[in-house]
Amino acid sequence: MTLNTTPPTGCPAWAKLAVHAEGWREARLADLFAGDAQRAAQFVARAPGLALDYSRQRCGALTVRLLAQLAAERGLEGWRDALFAGAPINVTEDRAARHAELRAGGAAGAEAKALARGMQGVRRIVHLGTGGSELGPRLLYDALREQARIEVRFAANADPLDLARALEGAEPASTLVLAVSKTFTTAETLANAKAAKDWLGGKGRLYAVTANEAAARAFGAQQVLPLQDWVGGRFSVWSAASFSALAALGEGAFDEFLAGGRDIDRHFREAPLERNLPVLLALVGVWNVNFLGAATHCVLPYAHALRLLPAWLQQLEMESNGKRVDRAGNALEYATAPVLWGAEGTPSQHSFHQLLHQGTQVVPADFIVAGVSAQMEANAEAQSRALAFGTGDAALPPHRRTPGNRPSSILRLDRLDARHLGSLLAAYEHKVFVQGVLWNINSFDQWGVELGKRLADDILRKGS
Ligand code: F6P
Repeated sequence: MTLNTTPPTGCPAWAKLAVHAEGWREARLADLFAGDAQRAAQFVARAPGLALDYSRQRCGALTVRLLAQLAAERGLEGWRDALFAGAPINVTEDRAARHAELRAGGAAGAEAKALARGMQGVRRIVHLGTGGSELGPRLLYDALREQARIEVRFAANADPLDLARALEGAEPASTLVLAVSKTFTTAETLANAKAAKDWLGGKGRLYAVTANEAAARAFGAQQVLPLQDWVGGRFSVWSAASFSALAALGEGAFDEFLAGGRDIDRHFREAPLERNLPVLLALVGVWNVNFLGAATHCVLPYAHALRLLPAWLQQLEMESNGKRVDRAGNALEYATAPVLWGAEGTPSQHSFHQLLHQGTQVVPADFIVAGVSAQMEANAEAQSRALAFGTGDAALPPHRRTPGNRPSSILRLDRLDARHLGSLLAAYEHKVFVQGVLWNINSFDQWGVELGKRLADDILRKGS
């Protein structure tokens, strides 16, 4: 099958959306709700364990139809089949992106589980890694740590203080140092691994997770779990990269996490575009960025357990889709990934929500809610409502008025457990993939990070 690699701006639906957007410049969310009693129910997409309410986005039924038409014209279904078929869609590295396969468990999973069963005597796992070799496993562990039987601490930074804190209070004999690096060449991970190995002093355990087994063995790792070269770092939370979380939380939790991811894979492959939750996440994002001019996107988990979600998402979205050329290397004439930022609510309300409500930029937001408590639910709902409707009270002085009409979605997890976490992360992974298809970019490489690495090495070597 031929995959569509033409620019999206040449699609009939893109032109229609550009015209359609003109009519939305003056539209008010308050009027849309007043004029349509069904709106709150109509703009909801459901997937197993998740529901996306996008009724407070500045869009209508025709917008969604045109966006779905755009996805169809981009050949999304063909691209989706190619992704799941393991076609080499990462063209600059001539690789497939087969992370969804990891959610089926498989041989690598079995090997990690067998190793995790032999953790007797281990009281602390010190997980060393950065980027995809840290953010996903750390989010998974942190979200579910109340059920952990082993403490895991993480160190990613080249600053030795990070490792010192991860080792604080640990005894070498009861510590597993786990170096996670797909390439086993990342300077800060190797420096931390070397220092941690010295700290172990031949006691405890030193394991590695990598696609570069020879380097890990040469380094002295006693056990090496494989990372497949067809899994991008930021998509590797389903792999042995999460060994620390697997060992700490147990096989049952990890299997549930994978099952939650599979639930969304099925939904993503089967649901029609206009009711497909990851597709809608992507389409709403494209609408905000390319047609309504948003430059940033805010993610606000109203669950302390999900406090690390924005950090994981930053790498996922910005490393994947922070691109300026298309698949053939042509400069793009349209925006790609917005700056993604965010923090856990409710503390974020007392930090940057002022700007969300009254700043000069309109920042679309995703509220993630998971039924944590009535107070958390009320706060998320209140924030989304205030953004959408503001206060029309003309009696208020200008500095107290909130204009409203600021778009947000509410992404609801039926429960906060391993399975729903898996569903949530898989939904965002597919969102990123869909946006890459819409923008005609390769979401699976990250050449932009290389120059800085090389310069830092040079500067270190030369001393200036
Ligand atoms: O520098 C960015 C990056 O290449 C990410 O893509 C990756 O997740 C991270 O570094 C860590 O790489 P590795 O797992 O090879 O140490």
